[in-house]
Amino acid sequence: MQLLKTIEEIRAAVAQARRQGKTIGFVPTMGALHAGHSSLIQKARSQCGCIVVSIFVNPTQFGPTEDFGHYPRTLEEDTCLCESLRVDCVFAPSAEEMYPQKNLTWVDVEQLTAGLCGASRPGHLRGVTTVCTKLFHIVLPDKAYFGQKDAQQAVVIRRMVEDLNFPMEVIVCPTVREADGLAISSRNRYLSPEQRRQAVCLYQALCRCKEWVQQGTISSRELIEQMNQIVSKAGAQAEYISIVDSRTLQSMESLTADALVALACRVGTTRLIDNMLIFLNPLRFQI
Ligand code: PAJ
Repeated sequence: MQLLKTIEEIRAAVAQARRQGKTIGFVPTMGALHAGHSSLIQKARSQCGCIVVSIFVNPTQFGPTEDFGHYPRTLEEDTCLCESLRVDCVFAPSAEEMYPQKNLTWVDVEQLTAGLCGASRPGHLRGVTTVCTKLFHIVLPDKAYFGQKDAQQAVVIRRMVEDLNFPMEVIVCPTVREADGLAISSRNRYLSPEQRRQAVCLYQALCRCKEWVQQGTISSRELIEQMNQIVSKAGAQAEYISIVDSRTLQSMESLTADALVALACRVGTTRLIDNMLIFLNPLRFQI
């Protein structure tokens, strides 16, 4: 496995793999790798001849009061994990390599970024789409792998790739969870043991929502109200709980089309997100 820090080096490595006729699979990450990231890498490994994982804590997707400064940086452990998963190249550029001058060009996906995390983290998704555009242009993958855990990010990236004709496929993989259901996240390591116990309330609220829908509740207002109670009883604060159309991400008053139930909560000062898809015809769920 090669650990490459410059754009020139990763371009050369990918070009060589392509000359050998290999399909390029790309998993963009911010590092602090865990079982969620591993699942994307394994999916890529099963479909592609050459796997590139990028590890870059992207400054442009963090707000001024967010956790950019203390986001976990564990490059040594990350490269060991990548090696064990038979990754071909880890691309771990510096901020100067990615942003050598003040960035004046941004990729902004309209409408889909207005609600959910787009509303509570202004500029976040613009930072994500811009850095993914840069990474896609650098790596030139055939397939890029994203997690359903960040549902809005996945929808927005897919739309950007369609709208801007990136010659690549976006593949979205299911959310990987801890035994009690908590979605695995690099930010879970911020939680104290007590907060870790509270954090399962996001998953519990989604599971209860699923049960209420199965029992016939279709009013979003009622579902959201009940989920809010579960979250606050556990001692967490909901930043948003939304039920939106799974393709347009527009709010839905009642469950009349395939829906995405998504929530962001503060557990202590840590912000956690989770979501569930509800497919209406026939009624089935993906948590
Ligand atoms: P990061 O949070 O490191 O996540 C990298 C990828 O792993 C994302 O596609 C995310 O959805 C996926 N992922 C995270 N936790 C997961 C879980 N429990 N199950 C399945 N997949 C999971 O998302 C980012 O980085 C950045 O915004 C990035 C796309 C790299 C742009 O900077």
